[in-house]
Amino acid sequence: MENNAEMRRYLDIKNETDFEKLDEAIKVIKNGGVVLFPTETVYGIGANGLSSEAVEKVFKAKGRSTKNPINLLVSSKEMVESIAKDITELEYKLMEAFFPGAFTIILNKKENVPDIVTAGGSTVGVRMSSSKITTKLVEMAGVPIAAPSANLSGKPSGTNINDIIEEFKGKVDYIIDGGESEIGIESTIVKVVDGIPHILRPGAITDTQIEKVAGKVILDYLDSEKNKSLPSNNLEHYKIKTKCILVDEEDIEENKTKLLELANKYDNSVIICSNESANFICSNKSDGFIEKDITIFNMGAKDNLEEVSRNIFKLLRKADDISPYIIIIEGVEKKRNRKSYNG
Ligand code: TXA
Ligand code: MG
Repeated sequence: MENNAEMRRYLDIKNETDFEKLDEAIKVIKNGGVVLFPTETVYGIGANGLSSEAVEKVFKAKGRSTKNPINLLVSSKEMVESIAKDITELEYKLMEAFFPGAFTIILNKKENVPDIVTAGGSTVGVRMSSSKITTKLVEMAGVPIAAPSANLSGKPSGTNINDIIEEFKGKVDYIIDGGESEIGIESTIVKVVDGIPHILRPGAITDTQIEKVAGKVILDYLDSEKNKSLPSNNLEHYKIKTKCILVDEEDIEENKTKLLELANKYDNSVIICSNESANFICSNKSDGFIEKDITIFNMGAKDNLEEVSRNIFKLLRKADDISPYIIIIEGVEKKRNRKSYNG
């Protein structure tokens, strides 16, 4: 931090359980300010979700289109019911199964939710985080917190303070540093339509987990027509400046060969790949089979999707910062049945 004034606006709570220290952040929220804070999925940039003026500042800080609605973080069932109405049995069942956790549900909004939060729509996205810091923050604020991911619009979500501090310099009133996000990718967004959960955005809670609770799911995010009707999908996401190639062959050996081929094709590339492929590429490089200038970022063991999730956004940002000619990314398994994060 640069000076004392800024010091007072930064709280390092990485190794602390003393939530009293959140007092200052709460004051900022109550006064309509904007706070950068950790959650278990990705960092959020938040403000009082029931104040149009405060939420407007979040849109401004992110450079986000006001056509793109913002979700609210809550700390209790009562708080859900204070902002949403006509909640169905299935919606309650889903919330019981996945709250607190990496799960956002779209519900019918009550009058008190400002139009700016929902982009003028009649529904509101609601999530209860499993991070103690996040939940304490909401609880102590006593109001739902409007919290999109902490990144300038178009950039990958931030999973630690260092990655985002520059882009939000001078744009937020308070920063809470809770260390690395435990999960590293965003929540799954679900909307129940005619008694069936539709997954609008894939995230840390899997389709399979939701199907187990609801009996059926519809994957709207795989449907290009339905995708067009989603506010978030009409806007550009994760737009880093470097061109990227995804290598996603079914066969593991073919995948490695393809990575090697691409590593040899371009000068000055960054390869973001699994541990296994990183070893393979490194040994080929030391054997002289790769002559080009490459940088390898290891995203974790291929079968450890928790590790890959934690690293992917951080490595994408790191790779982009190097300004290589191209970023080559190894794909991981699409369908997975990772463990639930609700405790
Ligand atoms: O894990 C997460 O969900 C993180 C953490 C910080 O909580 N937040 C997050 O927020 O990813 P954001 O704003 O980056 O992404 C939320 C997405 C947006 O793309 C938005 O379009 C969609 O949710 N969304 C919000 N409200 C909606 C609504 N009422 N109907 C449909 N989509 C909605
Ligand atoms: Mg986002």
